Amino acid sequence: MTNKGKGNLTLVLVLILGVTGLHYGTTKSPWAIHDFYRRLYYIPIILAAFHFKLRGGFMASALVMFLYAPHLLLYFGRLDITVINQLLEAGMFMVVGVITGYLAEESYRRELQLQRQLSQLMKMDLLERKLRQSERLASLGQLASGIAHEIRNPLGIIKTISQTLHQEALEAGEDSLTEGLHIIESETDRANKVIKGMLDFARPEPLHLKPTNGEQVLHELLTVLRSLAKQHQVEIDSRLQSVPPLQADADRLKQALMNLMLNGIQSMEQGGTLALSLEKGTDSMALITITDQGQGIDKESLPHIFDPFFTTKEGGTGLGLSVTHRIIEEHRGTIDVTSEPGKGTTFKLHLPLAQNHIEEAPHET
Ligand SMILES: Nc1ncnc2c1ncn2[C@@H]1O[C@H](COP(=O)(O)OP(=O)(O)OP(=O)(O)O)[C@@H](O)[C@H]1O
Ligand SMILES: [Mg+2]
Repeated sequence: MTNKGKGNLTLVLVLILGVTGLHYGTTKSPWAIHDFYRRLYYIPIILAAFHFKLRGGFMASALVMFLYAPHLLLYFGRLDITVINQLLEAGMFMVVGVITGYLAEESYRRELQLQRQLSQLMKMDLLERKLRQSERLASLGQLASGIAHEIRNPLGIIKTISQTLHQEALEAGEDSLTEGLHIIESETDRANKVIKGMLDFARPEPLHLKPTNGEQVLHELLTVLRSLAKQHQVEIDSRLQSVPPLQADADRLKQALMNLMLNGIQSMEQGGTLALSLEKGTDSMALITITDQGQGIDKESLPHIFDPFFTTKEGGTGLGLSVTHRIIEEHRGTIDVTSEPGKGTTFKLHLPLAQNHIEEAPHET
């Protein structure tokens, strides 16, 4: 029982005992006064019915009857028709207690039902909004990928010409020109990165799912990442178990994992350890865990990290995690994140195993 419930129970009991005390303490007073006291019993009975519903109304009125009945015998000194009449009158306590309790219970039940209907409606509304959002994202994606294709070619030309001019400016010792051309090249690279991210995000091609050796995918990924990690004073601690083949598209999976590993490395500005593990998860799934010791993600940002274009990095596109999320979803896998600001972040990926191999027992390497 809650503290409020305990408080209400105490109030009801104190009122019942108080009124009973008035009855027993004034046995010599005229009956009219007792008639008045008797009516006071309705207060705790109605209170009990309101707070504790049917059970409360019934128990409070039963307690009142139990305490009040002996007083009648004491007052009148015999059991005659007057006492029986008074007892019948006191029976009204039960009637009032039970009816009020029943009504309180009914209104409580109706309120609960309304609340349930309301939350169902809200869920439906949320689903509808999500559906509309994904429809909007899909058409936005198509539009974006069309534009991205068109922009990529001129960007390529700008970069090539700028590189040639850069070379010539270097040879001619034109420092201010060299600096300007360097900026053009790095900005072209950044624009290219955004476009690549958008194309990945909007890529309409289906995955080529087939039984894939997860351990090998991660080994290949580590080969590419080790030198970058070293540059950032990050040590990679990999614990890869042999698990049955995953049902995956190796290239896309690598891309998804690469985004997570890159984020992990970038989050550790002072260096640290990036832990990567592969093991057998639950329900015919493999579990890949990536943990960094970086700056972590604050509570406000956490719900948005998978949103396209959400970034807290200067020069970031904010597309890395949305691409990763899309790829893992397309694999029918799940991705979960936990993060503690100042301590680090963990991403857990559950990926389905290939159907014909899920009975194979995993073994350590
Ligand atoms: N391991 C991590 N540690 C701390 N913050 C993270 C981590 N992973 C993601 N984030 C946060 O989520 C945001 C979105 O990540 P996402 O990979 O989508 O984009 P980005 O890394 O900012 O840009 P890009 O991937 O183009 O470099 C990041 O800007 C960062 O704030
Ligand atoms: Mg990123």
